[in-house]
Amino acid sequence: MRLLVTGGAGFIGCNFVRHVLAQRRNARVRVLDKLTYAGSIDNLEGVLDDPRVEFVQGDICDQAAIETAAEGADFIVHLAAESHVDRSIISAEAAVQTNFVGSFRVFEAARAAGVSRVLHVSTDEVYGACEGEPFVEGDPLNPRNPYSATKAGADRLAHSYFVTHGLPVVIARPSNNYGPWQYPEKLIPFFVWRALSDEHLPVYGSGLQIRDWLHVLDHCRALLLLLEAGEPGEAYNIHGGNERPNLETIRLILDELGKPESLIRHVEDRPGHDVRYAMDAAKITALGWRPEIEWETGIRATVRWFAEHREWMERSVARGKAYFEEWYAGR
Ligand code: NAD
Ligand code: DAU
Repeated sequence: MRLLVTGGAGFIGCNFVRHVLAQRRNARVRVLDKLTYAGSIDNLEGVLDDPRVEFVQGDICDQAAIETAAEGADFIVHLAAESHVDRSIISAEAAVQTNFVGSFRVFEAARAAGVSRVLHVSTDEVYGACEGEPFVEGDPLNPRNPYSATKAGADRLAHSYFVTHGLPVVIARPSNNYGPWQYPEKLIPFFVWRALSDEHLPVYGSGLQIRDWLHVLDHCRALLLLLEAGEPGEAYNIHGGNERPNLETIRLILDELGKPESLIRHVEDRPGHDVRYAMDAAKITALGWRPEIEWETGIRATVRWFAEHREWMERSVARGKAYFEEWYAGR
């Protein structure tokens, strides 16, 4: 199988590339990644030595670059994105360009290359905040922050390419991922980083917001399944089955690190903060997938992984220095 993975040097991308190489001997993987602050060659440590892997630095918004990268591919897994909600609140520019315009260019390149499957990775955030029953795939999309609005646009654009052009695209809607190599601006690695430095943990508002945590390896198994067995034109929710209030997650992090709860500080909330994400995942479960990594085991192992990779965290945080200073000023 010849695969193009966009965003393969990011958190989910580098885990997915490792997973495919381990699971499919005949895989040939080309990674296209711009290497923004969130992506790094470091994340592909041990992977780039594999003769089955080719790395190309390039931007999905550049039609020539994405078309060249897609040449000869049977499958495209589209993960490249500006993935952080808080950054999209400071400025939505990069998210609009990469998540919407860039996705458009990926779908055009997929058409030109005649690939047999495109897996478009959307997000549970496209449904908006959940106030009742967990969302099912047919529910209306109601994104409420700039990041999720760009993702919802791309999600529907992907579907329109299936309906209009017959592009064989499958849409994945995963919940919050956690695990190794996550860029330390996201809750879990950021708070590990802060706690290890004995700095306060800036909890937005009450800290009672709920996220459904999905281990990245469970997610990668789901993505490979959808790539090979998903129905073109269909969307699939992928959840962890672990709905937790943020404060509970934060207390587990502190406990694993042996740090005091006095580090917790409630700060100004994120504007437009979605209070709860929740999805029903019966559709992908019917294909034979379910999450396997138990929450407390998974989170504790993840916290230890970050603690053991402090130099990697330091280099990663350094790339986002200006953002951290701006967003957390006064928080
Ligand atoms: P990430 O920020 O860790 O990685 C994104 C990668 O995309 C980086 O390597 C970056 O360099 C690359 N990239 C960004 N802009 C690019 C461009 N214009 N051209 C080429 N490469 C570019 O993100 P992630 O957490 O790995 O998320 C991957 C995908 O999964 C995203 O589409 C995101 O919306 C989606 N998603 C993530 C989560 C989560 O919890 N992390 C949950 C649901 C959905
Ligand atoms: O739900 C899927 C989405 O999950 C993905 O589509 C996004 O790419 C990914 O970034 C993630 O979005 P969230 O906004 O849920 O993740 P984040 O790690 O930024 O925040 C998780 C929760 O923790 C959220 O309720 C906000 C809160 N939080 C986060 C940070 C960074 C804080 O209280 N303080 C913080 O400093």
